[in-house]
Amino acid sequence: MSSSEIFRLVLLLVATVSYCACRRSRSRHPHIIFIVADDLGWSDVGWRDPEMHTPALDRLAKEGIILNQAYMQSSCSPSRGALMTGKYPFRLGLQHSVISAGKKEYLTDKETILPQYLRTLGYATHIVGKWHLGFCDWKYTPTYRGFDTFYGFYNAAQGYFNHTGKKNGYDFRDNEKVDWSAKGTYSTHLFATRAQRIVRDHDPDKPLFLYLPFQAVHGPFEVPQEYIDNYCSHVQDKARRVHCGMVAALDEAVGNVSQSLQDFGLADNAIVIFTTDNGGPTKKGSSNWPLRGSKTTLWEGGTRAISFVQSKSRRLLPKQGVTFNGLMHVVDWLPTLLTAAGYDSNDIPANIDGINMWKQLRRVRGRSPRREMVYNIDEVKDNAAIRIGRWKLIQGKAGKPNGWYNPPTGVRSRKVPRGKAPTLQLFDLKRDPNETRNLIKRKPKIVQRLLRKLEKYKRELVLSEPRSRMLKMSDPKLFNNTWSPGFCSEVKPTEDCL
Ligand SMILES: *[C@@H]1O[C@H](CO)[C@@H](O)[C@H](O)[C@H]1NC(C)=O
Ligand SMILES: *[C@@H]1O[C@H](CO)[C@@H](O)[C@H](O)[C@H]1NC(C)=O
Ligand SMILES: *[C@@H]1O[C@H](CO)[C@@H](O)[C@H](O)[C@H]1NC(C)=O
Ligand SMILES: *[C@@H]1O[C@H](CO)[C@@H](O)[C@H](O)[C@H]1NC(C)=O
Repeated sequence: MSSSEIFRLVLLLVATVSYCACRRSRSRHPHIIFIVADDLGWSDVGWRDPEMHTPALDRLAKEGIILNQAYMQSSCSPSRGALMTGKYPFRLGLQHSVISAGKKEYLTDKETILPQYLRTLGYATHIVGKWHLGFCDWKYTPTYRGFDTFYGFYNAAQGYFNHTGKKNGYDFRDNEKVDWSAKGTYSTHLFATRAQRIVRDHDPDKPLFLYLPFQAVHGPFEVPQEYIDNYCSHVQDKARRVHCGMVAALDEAVGNVSQSLQDFGLADNAIVIFTTDNGGPTKKGSSNWPLRGSKTTLWEGGTRAISFVQSKSRRLLPKQGVTFNGLMHVVDWLPTLLTAAGYDSNDIPANIDGINMWKQLRRVRGRSPRREMVYNIDEVKDNAAIRIGRWKLIQGKAGKPNGWYNPPTGVRSRKVPRGKAPTLQLFDLKRDPNETRNLIKRKPKIVQRLLRKLEKYKRELVLSEPRSRMLKMSDPKLFNNTWSPGFCSEVKPTEDCL
């Protein structure tokens, strides 16, 4: 062979190899499917309570990586704000409670949010489901904040079939337009169907970010009867039986979307994340057992989230079928996903609270780079909590319900402590994840260390907006009985806005 022939052969080889590599991975950037369940408790899935019917979630979690110490905020808007920005809500003024219908409350538009970052890498970005980060002006709504499309609702809650919330305002949109055709159909079906359509119509060579925050399983407690009859008739407690039906429908939806990823060629280059937005509301059939407390509290039951990440690709997630015990917080998703997506670490903003966990998710061993986290600092409720290593300090009232509820059938519950709650509590989460023994008197040095750290964080607090009344100009009656943007400025909307 002459040298020019060898040269040509080498060229051909290089071309073939790079062609194959390129065919296999298609896009350099993985598809990201981020699924959020609303108010799903720690024990509301089959692998923690066998009475629940969640075959799809069980399978995905088992295939993927169960995140055993992944924390969220204790309620909806704060969690979503933290997910979108990578910052603690107390830096955003979002720390106190949720964004309410008809008020001048929103996630500040001074922050760049997750879909905006991903767009710069060429991602198509879609949100299907619940927004709940404000809509008094169009500029706070998803399609003005980095999402190509929006299908869902703006507020916190509504009927699952009538899509009507407070003040009888209908709240359901396809992009910016009110979508009346949703009326009468259960939202879990609507959102799964739309998500599947997005996956079907998506060019697999282009990266996809699909943010899928379901309405389920938030109140009101509604589900087509067949889900209760088919999967939950064995559940004794009535509230938990309905809840079980809602979870079963959610599970079917997740299974359907996962199947579509497979059917339309996205699965082998996709990362699927599943998490709740906060702990379950224990009074309505949800269970955080054996964790303490409920949604909206600083207890583990309000904040430690059911969560996993899954991928069909060993290239993306080499370790699968394992549990990751390292500490993670919702703020970590932003830098973690941006890194997975191919962002240069120098381009990830330094002023966020999130820590990039991508390497740990790929390795699933060793210590988490996250050693401490702030549960929240709320200057209105006058409470706060922080964790460093195994130690958790709660200052002020952790919130109620403050006991242990809805244990699996046959397991006896614990007695709820009575009397006035102590104003400072210390727990050793390594030995006592159920928060049963307050060690405040035994470990004064550790208490001092945690308090000092907390005080440091408090200096960075951005005050939350004082609670306001519902603005008259937000009244759905002014907008053909729909909840509609355009009331921030408190001037009467003109005719063409109606
Ligand atoms: C919508 O459904 C919810 C939950 O069932 C119900 O409470 C509410 O009254 C309904 N609203 C309207 C306008 O029908
Ligand atoms: C899932 O797909 C099946 C089969 O198409 C369908 O019957 C079911 O209603 C879907 N479930 C949801 C929650 O979308
Ligand atoms: C937490 O509570 C559960 C249920 O009672 C129990 O099985 C578990 O051992 C407890 N954990 C610890 C570390 O005490
Ligand atoms: C007003 O609302 C009704 C449903 O209540 C709907 O059928 C109609 O199309 C709406 N009108 C406009 C102009 O959007």
